[in-house]
Amino acid sequence: MNILIVGSGGREHAIAASVAKSRRVSKIYCAPGNAGISEIAECVPYGAMEFDKLVAFAKEHAIDFTIIGMDDPLVGGIVDAFEAEGLKVFGPRKNAAILEGSKAFSKELMKKYQIPTAAYETFDDPTAAIAYLETAKMPIVLKADGLALGKGVLICDTLAQAKEGVKTIMEDKKFGTAGNKIVIEEFMTGREVSVLSFVDGKTIKIMSSAQDHKRAQDGDQGLNTGGMGTFSPSPFYTNEVDAFCRAHIYQATVDAMASEGRPFQGVIFFGLMLTEDGPKVLEYNARFGDPEAQVVLPRMKNDIIDVMEACVDGRLDTIDLQFEDQAAVCVVLASGGYPLSYEKGHEISGLEAFAGKEDYACFHAGTAWKDGRIVTNGGRVLGITAKGADLHEARRKAYEATQWVQFEKKYMRHDIGKAIEEA
Ligand code: AMP
Ligand code: GLY
Repeated sequence: MNILIVGSGGREHAIAASVAKSRRVSKIYCAPGNAGISEIAECVPYGAMEFDKLVAFAKEHAIDFTIIGMDDPLVGGIVDAFEAEGLKVFGPRKNAAILEGSKAFSKELMKKYQIPTAAYETFDDPTAAIAYLETAKMPIVLKADGLALGKGVLICDTLAQAKEGVKTIMEDKKFGTAGNKIVIEEFMTGREVSVLSFVDGKTIKIMSSAQDHKRAQDGDQGLNTGGMGTFSPSPFYTNEVDAFCRAHIYQATVDAMASEGRPFQGVIFFGLMLTEDGPKVLEYNARFGDPEAQVVLPRMKNDIIDVMEACVDGRLDTIDLQFEDQAAVCVVLASGGYPLSYEKGHEISGLEAFAGKEDYACFHAGTAWKDGRIVTNGGRVLGITAKGADLHEARRKAYEATQWVQFEKKYMRHDIGKAIEEA
């Protein structure tokens, strides 16, 4: 089979690495890809939002199956564009990707189908939002309705901050049109867990759990980022939590989408908070997490193409999804200054150290080729993943491997997975 992967980050590198292991695949293309992906796939210079060019490319190159990694094209309807031309593609259609694309939609869905989540109100008028805040309990959470690169969420401790937040989102339009509508929700406390799943419209199969580290600095300090590291499985995702989520969240979400005439095919990422009142949904994403994919996919035993094709064909019930008992930890090597301003173009050395090492992977996020050398090309540069018999061993090995690669202004958190010591 000829496969096309759409995206350019660590998540797409992890997807490409799984696809490369498939016995059914002869050729992999990735648009636009990055330097690491180019070692296992042919990178083609089209952006993820260039639907017409991507569809034309897929036809010209006899692509049998396309995998969409990123949220923006999914929410923008890339799957519909491929399907309109009779092309087979993995990911939710536009009317289902709204599960991630609109927080107002997903909150409404959860309320209607009684899926546990934080209490909330939605506003499209800043004056009404502020009037509501005057009577609300602090801290409180403000969310821009649309996609905002994971940054459209403000946690406000005081009424003054919350009022300022409404202005930032709805009037100053800091997150663009994503802020035309706002969700104001109850502040919850608890440990966060990411759960990825495959869905075929009716059936859902849960992958292994993971935990992300969203803040830039050790001890969960500093600004929110795309994610600075992950571990999988999460020891906090107990059998009891799993049973509750299976009973009240996972299938309920898939059934709710089907009932709404928006059958979901692809990956649903459940961002959960384990509160004192039980697990609640913080958010849904319509794709693999990044860097969750970098610790979950390397542990998947199935042929990824078999599973993804079953999702598209509506026969996921025939798949026995299996994961290795081993644990995995991914530490992100970022460019100093991320998520604000940072430099690009620094040469990366030591990458060859990963060659032939079964338990280790170096997933490229922001890298590029320049004059025959691999250089930094983004905020998150590499995701260093290691597998081990347990989380402690995986963590030790991942941190050891972070020392194999060097580049100027290399930055990482030193406490990825440290929480497992409390488990
Ligand atoms: P989201 O994009 O909705 O996942 O929000 C980003 C981050 O904000 C989450 O990972 C949480 O850490 C935090 N967050 C979101 N909603 C809430 C909430 N209702 N209570 C507490 N923290 C939240
Ligand atoms: N790591 C969180 C996300 O992919 O949204």
